[in-house]
Amino acid sequence: MTNVAWNSRELSVGQLAERSGVAVSALHFYESKGLIASRRTAGNQRRYSRDTLRRVAFIRLSQRLGIPLKTIKDALAELPENRTPTRDDWARLSAAWRGELDDRIEQLQRLRDDLTDCIGCGCLSLDRCALANPQDRLGAEGPGARRIDTRICTPTTCR
Ligand code: FES
Repeated sequence: MTNVAWNSRELSVGQLAERSGVAVSALHFYESKGLIASRRTAGNQRRYSRDTLRRVAFIRLSQRLGIPLKTIKDALAELPENRTPTRDDWARLSAAWRGELDDRIEQLQRLRDDLTDCIGCGCLSLDRCALANPQDRLGAEGPGARRIDTRICTPTTCR
């Protein structure tokens, strides 16, 4: 366990990982996606400002809600001067995301209900199975087979 002084203004990646409970590899990934930022020391080591902890917490909570990283990044980018999300920011964003969550729950409930019809069936029929052909989307494209790959290919590209 790494000791971090309570008044330390910066954290190494190991300290940030330890304090946030997020793997170093995930922190590097967040940084590569522009969700968090660090400065480099003379020895080329990353140093994160202490408020990055709150930023990482925001990212993790948002991810738990199923919010895509791109959306999280956009939300963070809206904050003035790239500051760390405050309690009010979280309240505003989480309220906005609630509608999306409700939509996804509704969609998953529909999928669950369709799956119930499939249990013990196994037909995978495009005519009958709501999972194989939701709302008969393929039927709307016209008669005949709809899932044949029609890309032109040569003997070297097709196997
Ligand atoms: S597998 Fe037969 S209805 Fe879905």
